[in-house]
Amino acid sequence: MKVAIGNDHGGYVLRETVFEFLKERGYEYIDFGTDKEESVDYPEYGKKVAKAVASKQADVGILICGTGIGIGISANKVKGIRCAIVHNAFTAEMTKRHNNANVIAFGGRVIDKETTKEILKAYFDAEYEGGRHQLRIDKIAEIEDNK
Ligand code: RB5
Repeated sequence: MKVAIGNDHGGYVLRETVFEFLKERGYEYIDFGTDKEESVDYPEYGKKVAKAVASKQADVGILICGTGIGIGISANKVKGIRCAIVHNAFTAEMTKRHNNANVIAFGGRVIDKETTKEILKAYFDAEYEGGRHQLRIDKIAEIEDNK
């Protein structure tokens, strides 16, 4: 499992919890930053992680900004990316099972360390169910192709 990580200054603190989790699991990761607390523009980091996943440089991506929203919206502009903005273990599990989200985003000013660990565990342990959900994912891809 190779994971791409990106964050703005709003995710600068919480990213350490993500690294801890990934190391515990023995997952490889590519860190796209930022590793500084100075203000940066979240679309740049959403784009880098989304492109890494879309090009298969990474299997999945994790994004953090203040709310998870801006960086998640940015990632979803890249073709092939299904980025879910998650808030807890339930939304993280369901987005893997039903949406096969290949990127998750959350907010460093919204959730705490414990919830972050719960989210990561739920997302990485869940399995995509396919079946009727694949038909719906195919319809999302058709939107990308202007169909
Ligand atoms: C940055 O202040 C903040 O706007 C950003 O981290 C994020 O919350 C945007 O959606």
